[in-house]
Amino acid sequence: MIEGLECAACGTWAAADGLRNLCPACSGPLFARYDLEALARGWRPADLTGRAPGVWRWREVLPIAPAEEPLTLGEGGTPLLRSRSIGPALGMPHLAFKDESCNPTLSFKARGLAVAIHRARALGAHHVAIPSAGNAGSATAAYCAAAGLPCTVAMPFDTPAPILDECRAHGARIQLVDGTIAEAGAWIRERVSAEGWFDVSTLREPYRLEGKKTMGYELAESGGWELPDAIVYPTGGGTGLIGMWKAFDELEALGWIGNERPRMISVQAAGCAPIVRAFEAGSQRAEPVREPRTAASGLKVPAAIGDFLILAAVRASGGAAVAVEDDELLAGARRLAAEEGIFASPEAGATVAALPGLLESGAIDPEARTVCFVTGHGIKYPVLCEAGPAGVSS
Ligand SMILES: Cc1ncc(COP(=O)(O)O)c(C=O)c1O
Repeated sequence: MIEGLECAACGTWAAADGLRNLCPACSGPLFARYDLEALARGWRPADLTGRAPGVWRWREVLPIAPAEEPLTLGEGGTPLLRSRSIGPALGMPHLAFKDESCNPTLSFKARGLAVAIHRARALGAHHVAIPSAGNAGSATAAYCAAAGLPCTVAMPFDTPAPILDECRAHGARIQLVDGTIAEAGAWIRERVSAEGWFDVSTLREPYRLEGKKTMGYELAESGGWELPDAIVYPTGGGTGLIGMWKAFDELEALGWIGNERPRMISVQAAGCAPIVRAFEAGSQRAEPVREPRTAASGLKVPAAIGDFLILAAVRASGGAAVAVEDDELLAGARRLAAEEGIFASPEAGATVAALPGLLESGAIDPEARTVCFVTGHGIKYPVLCEAGPAGVSS
């Protein structure tokens, strides 16, 4: 059970018994904390036997009371698929894909929003609001529909049309804004207090991270409590990467894994790569990108509130941050579809596109057990559907 909330920037503690956004002292992101020492004494991997797969399998380290019923649409428990074609072609015999497109609403955003909306409802929210580049909006809409909570989703005008349709089908109120997720966030923040909404923006509430961290728990379990050597993750706001890093620390505190960590590799689009620029410059924070451009809408995040956490994890792991061009990431997504049978979003395509450069620079060893995150499904992206799969004329 959750013990409290700790600011990831300044270490201030806050109670976890009410609706909360940022740290009351410094406006940093709040992390949920558990009594891992007590858990380590009694909780063992064997206790998982017989539990259903998915996010709520890890309920001891999630914000849910022992007898509480979780809000679920079947999120998590996604397959880890050995690469059949791309890995062998690159000389990477141990390349695998964590296929998050199997989640409800077809992206990994379901994990975080399942937990955040569960918790928001439990703590008495009346209306949820979120700025989104797309997939987080549709996941919010679906979980709010399931929870019986109204929600408002603010998204850029160029959000892929299927995602807007999905949000409408779930009954969300949609606000389209001129600009990126940054302007959508500003639109929400101008209204939250007057409207009485609860803001579930990335890392501006503590529990989306808790859902996302279960990707790390799943990787550890599927490797027999051994982590992969490298994780390649398409980074916008970075919650998945930060969440997995948190999961690994928790698993070590529980005594389920040792102190070894995968190299965390952050991949961004060349037209919006604030983390890559900061990584290269040796900075702890990232400069906002002025005119972000990319077809991978989930990567069009000009400034991430958790930039310092992404950079710290990448550096502590001996990882890297790299950018790929749009034509490369789209080709990566088409390869995943045509060669692996995984119809992946452009963001996921970025991880495949990054591999040759990562091998060349030595950031990844060809023999490394490498996991690329397929964070979302390609069906929501007309930019992929219109052009037809690679190498096949329409
Ligand atoms: C499919 C997809 N992949 C990756 C991302 C980036 O995720 P994060 O914000 O966790 O870095 C997003 C965000 O919208 C997304 O929709």
